Amino acid sequence: MILRIFTLIISLNCLIAPVNNAEAIIFEPIPEITYPDNNPWSKAKEDLGRKLFFDPILSGDNSVSCSSCHLPEKSWTDGLPQSVGIRKQVLTRNSPSILNAGFQKTLFLDGRAKSLEEQALMPIQDKSEMDQSLGELMEELESHPDYRAMFESAFSSLKITPERLAMAIATFERTLVTGNTAYDLYWRGDKNAMSSAAIRGMRLFSGKAKCSICHSGPFFTDHQFHNIGLTGSENEGDEGRKKVTKEAFHDGSFKTPGLRGIVSTAPYMHDGSLSTLKEVIEFYDLGGVARKGKSPFISPIGMSGNEKNDLLEFLKALDENGEAYPLLTQEK
Ligand code: HEC
Ligand code: HEC
Repeated sequence: MILRIFTLIISLNCLIAPVNNAEAIIFEPIPEITYPDNNPWSKAKEDLGRKLFFDPILSGDNSVSCSSCHLPEKSWTDGLPQSVGIRKQVLTRNSPSILNAGFQKTLFLDGRAKSLEEQALMPIQDKSEMDQSLGELMEELESHPDYRAMFESAFSSLKITPERLAMAIATFERTLVTGNTAYDLYWRGDKNAMSSAAIRGMRLFSGKAKCSICHSGPFFTDHQFHNIGLTGSENEGDEGRKKVTKEAFHDGSFKTPGLRGIVSTAPYMHDGSLSTLKEVIEFYDLGGVARKGKSPFISPIGMSGNEKNDLLEFLKALDENGEAYPLLTQEK
């Protein structure tokens, strides 16, 4: 708690006075991942979860896997503005990275799922994503040559249930942790890991450009929901968080996405309306368009061309260029 207050004071400080040297910026290393008491890690469970994640058996016509929309080499996104599900149905939202998903406080861009276990069963049953009934899926898994044995070694029981399937997938997802970017190396002492442009960009990020008000902490997210005044999407297009809370002030607000792996997750925003990081920076520089409920922290910044370039270099220093997997599984 004391640390929280301290961090808050520091970030407010950054808000008022632009940061003059990198040392005034707080670096928070990625914490150790924790596994819930009712779903502890085991190698057998992680292996089962990995196999399930990449297996199209999870969808109604065995054509779509979780990895169809969350590809490891694209920082676990799919490169499309809006994802495409079973029978080529186009969804309404952009696929988020699931790197560091084990640290998220809520899941989905509107935060409607509370845990990875709860989240995992939702795309499977969704008519546009995988359109599979859980009953049928259990039968398919029971008659599969590998899964019976894998479930048994993961759960010491022959019973295959949707809950166990979700627990295995969630366990696998919790192993997808990043933390070896140029930015991390820089703060661990390798002062050459980041270019001087990226270091200037880091100061801008926490100072003049105000990014760290929302993109804060080790994952560059405050875990909150904001309406940033996107040009492409009038609020009535997708009400975002309001769908969950029914609060008018949440209209058009979405979860602050983490920024690790950000180079490889293009296109950007919940609707994929911005194609490149350059476009994202231009967007923030202009301060978005007027929207009901728009965050007061989004307003014109007035960056020079060089400053925009510095900010871009900093964002690049947060990406491991698709190398994140499988190098980054933390020690258990
Ligand atoms: C057809 C494409 C598609 C498939 C298949 C799919 N996802 Fe997703 N996934 C998405 C999209 C799009 C979102 C964001 C949706 C939203 O916020 O409403 C998402 C969100 C998520 C999130 C939340 C991430 C966050 O930061 O909040 C997780 C975790 C996730 N998916 C895991 C999975 C798992 C596990 C499977 C397989 C059981 C799966 N996905 C199958 C497209 C897909
Ligand atoms: C008021 C809080 C807030 C501030 C300030 C803010 N962001 Fe964001 N950022 C968000 C939210 C919320 C989203 C998701 C919006 C959406 O999808 O509709 C987002 C999305 C992004 C994305 C796209 C991520 C993705 O995976 O699609 C990038 C990149 C980004 N912000 C970078 C920045 C930079 C750089 C700055 C500073 C110039 C900044 N943000 C300032 C809240 C904020």
